[in-house]
Amino acid sequence: MNWIERDKSTIWHPFTPLKGVADPLMVTKAEGVYLHTDDGRKIIDAVSSWWVNLHGHGNPHIAKAIATQASNLEHVIFAGFTHEPAIKLAESLLKILPSNQSRVFYSDNGSTAVEVAIKMAFQYWFNKDEEKKRIIAIDGAYHGDTFGSMSVGERSDFTKPFVEHLFEVDFIDFPNGENDKEVIQTFQALAESGEIAAFIFEPLIQGASGMRMYSAETLDKLLSIAEEHNIICIADEVMTGFGRTGKLFASDYLVNKPDIICLSKGLTGGALALGATSCTSDIIDAFNSEDLKKTFLHGHSYTANPMACAAGVASYELLITPECQDNIKRIAEKHIGFLSRIKGQRIVKDVRTKGTVIAIEIETNKDSSYFSEMRNMLYPFFLEKDILLRPLGNLIYIIPPYIIKNEELDLVYSAIEELLNKHSSTSS
Ligand SMILES: Cc1ncc(COP(=O)(O)O)c(C=O)c1O
Repeated sequence: MNWIERDKSTIWHPFTPLKGVADPLMVTKAEGVYLHTDDGRKIIDAVSSWWVNLHGHGNPHIAKAIATQASNLEHVIFAGFTHEPAIKLAESLLKILPSNQSRVFYSDNGSTAVEVAIKMAFQYWFNKDEEKKRIIAIDGAYHGDTFGSMSVGERSDFTKPFVEHLFEVDFIDFPNGENDKEVIQTFQALAESGEIAAFIFEPLIQGASGMRMYSAETLDKLLSIAEEHNIICIADEVMTGFGRTGKLFASDYLVNKPDIICLSKGLTGGALALGATSCTSDIIDAFNSEDLKKTFLHGHSYTANPMACAAGVASYELLITPECQDNIKRIAEKHIGFLSRIKGQRIVKDVRTKGTVIAIEIETNKDSSYFSEMRNMLYPFFLEKDILLRPLGNLIYIIPPYIIKNEELDLVYSAIEELLNKHSSTSS
């Protein structure tokens, strides 16, 4: 059996039907922005491998940090023990996170970072003996695939088989620029009920629901209402964190700062799995007790894995360099140029950009959701050109590693323009 046959007889891949899809590509090496396959192809990773990779694949600084750590301390139980990489990473994060953040709780991925945030919020009110049990979330939200994170996410075909097992959430409409006033009014009315424990949101960009972007001003207004009514605000920065929106965190665009922030994806520069949930000292105060019943009884076997934390520290060191910050600005400016080139084309329903993220929605008279047939055409179209883009239905987006060169970005843009031209001529 060859590798692919061996894969197919043993492995179940994520978000992938077991039948009727192309065989997976066999990646043998990755370097910078390129994925190398066993048949000698070099594919541009224009989505940073599910939005995790910041500094390019095989970054030597991160690789060295992991290797050094692996030969010294690969893992240790994180209850009753601690280690340098975890401490250094927490200190580094607190240096760049909004200044109201005071502690970091580690977990394994984005979904668990969100689970931790939700549990922290519920237990905060439990420890204070206050009856606040409801959560507000935004329509279209995606916060992960575990039950808690699914509960605060959009009810859709993704969640249909599980829907009766999800806890109830008050969803407000997505503030689309036209309905912001009504959204704020609905939020205000919910807040006044006095029953709301927390408000969870993806700040400025809803990722999985189609890179939907909304106003920092509106979000700020929601946060100020939340603050007035003692509602814990949870910013899920799993996708937006570490420079994706142009600033280090999307929360940096806000005047009112969240109480809890969820991080993962770019946290290790994309090298190893790690999640982190930071919170304010006010949250900590509600747990600051010798009573085990008031303790946050949550943890994972690999919490704060030293190699992952060492990768996190190395990624942080790269992120804050002027070179990396300049790259973020350069990509953001290039995206704006591309946006103005394609905006207004009949075939482009919408094009939007924020920082290093650009999203192009293609006009379709068919289903425009994730399940749109268009994806089945778009994904192979780009892959044949050795470009990895994973369209969400009729929505193409680019989230590149920051080391992508202008010429490489131009290749991605040209492929998208070719697609637009092709689609425009076939649909006219
Ligand atoms: C905003 C947001 N939160 C949470 C998650 C879940 O992260 P993970 O896939 O690491 O569980 C994602 C993943 O795409 C996300 O975009």
